[in-house]
Amino acid sequence: MSGQRLKGKVALITGAASGIGEAAARLFAQNGALIVIADIQDELGQQVVDSIGIDRATYKHCDVRDEKQVEETVAFTLDKYGSLDILFSNAGIVGPLSGILELEMEELDKTMGINVGGMASAIKHAARVMVARKIRGSIICTTSVAASLGGCAPFAYTASKHALVGMVRSACSELGAYGIRVNCISPFGLATPLSCSAYNLDPSGVEAQACAVSNLKGIVLKASHIADAALFLASDDSAYITGHNLTVDGGFTVVAHSYTASR
Ligand SMILES: NC(=O)c1ccc[n+]([C@@H]2O[C@H](COP(=O)([O-])OP(=O)(O)OC[C@H]3O[C@@H](n4cnc5c(N)ncnc54)[C@H](O)[C@@H]3O)[C@@H](O)[C@H]2O)c1
Repeated sequence: MSGQRLKGKVALITGAASGIGEAAARLFAQNGALIVIADIQDELGQQVVDSIGIDRATYKHCDVRDEKQVEETVAFTLDKYGSLDILFSNAGIVGPLSGILELEMEELDKTMGINVGGMASAIKHAARVMVARKIRGSIICTTSVAASLGGCAPFAYTASKHALVGMVRSACSELGAYGIRVNCISPFGLATPLSCSAYNLDPSGVEAQACAVSNLKGIVLKASHIADAALFLASDDSAYITGHNLTVDGGFTVVAHSYTASR
């Protein structure tokens, strides 16, 4: 996708040193936005900035587990670019691969701390600024097909991503009064450092595994497809869409995988 659909907008993207966040940072910048890339991988984050161009993007270290760092990152964005129109709250982890029977409560807390707590504080501080400055902003969270379905991801991850859909709906209800939209994107499995390291596979191994169980055949899901969805939700093309969970899953969450009578 090309054009200037975010011309003059300022976007803060968490988890933007890699994978989906990185792809979104590049696409948003191509579409005219100024970007703050927030992550804990400082070297990688700076490399993404350098390749986008230091006139369009800046790196800021931000561990989303720490609310203070999130608040400072929002303040940094305002300082640097004078606004905050788009928050793409995307940083997340897979966490332990265990199910409920083997669950370590500390691991559950850790997964919830990043995937839920990190996104809650990002929404909170971005929304405060948008409300105070009367910015009709767009907030987007990355969830997962595991936000709608059990049994396709580990227990803690599934619980955290389901919680995010509730958070998005709740924030949508509260922030609608200020003209602020809040949506989420639910990707199917794709090859990024997160999925490769969680399942100990190289990118082609992750893609082969995903394609074997996908619904939509003949296409491999890439980070750029998720970035396209984020651009749609960030831009005025989705001006009346809020509270929505946009699945980018090739129909995976709306078909029965074990029921074959109609085929
Ligand atoms: N890859 C998939 O198959 C897939 C599928 C569905 C949803 N998702 C979701 O997409 C989002 C992005 O993941 P990705 O696949 O692009 O993986 P990725 O590993 O390429 O990117 C995630 C980024 O988040 C950063 N991060 C992790 N913990 C952080 C923290 N505490 N503070 C700040 N940054 C932190 C990482 O450093 C990394 O750069 C995650 O929320 C993930 O749950 C991924």
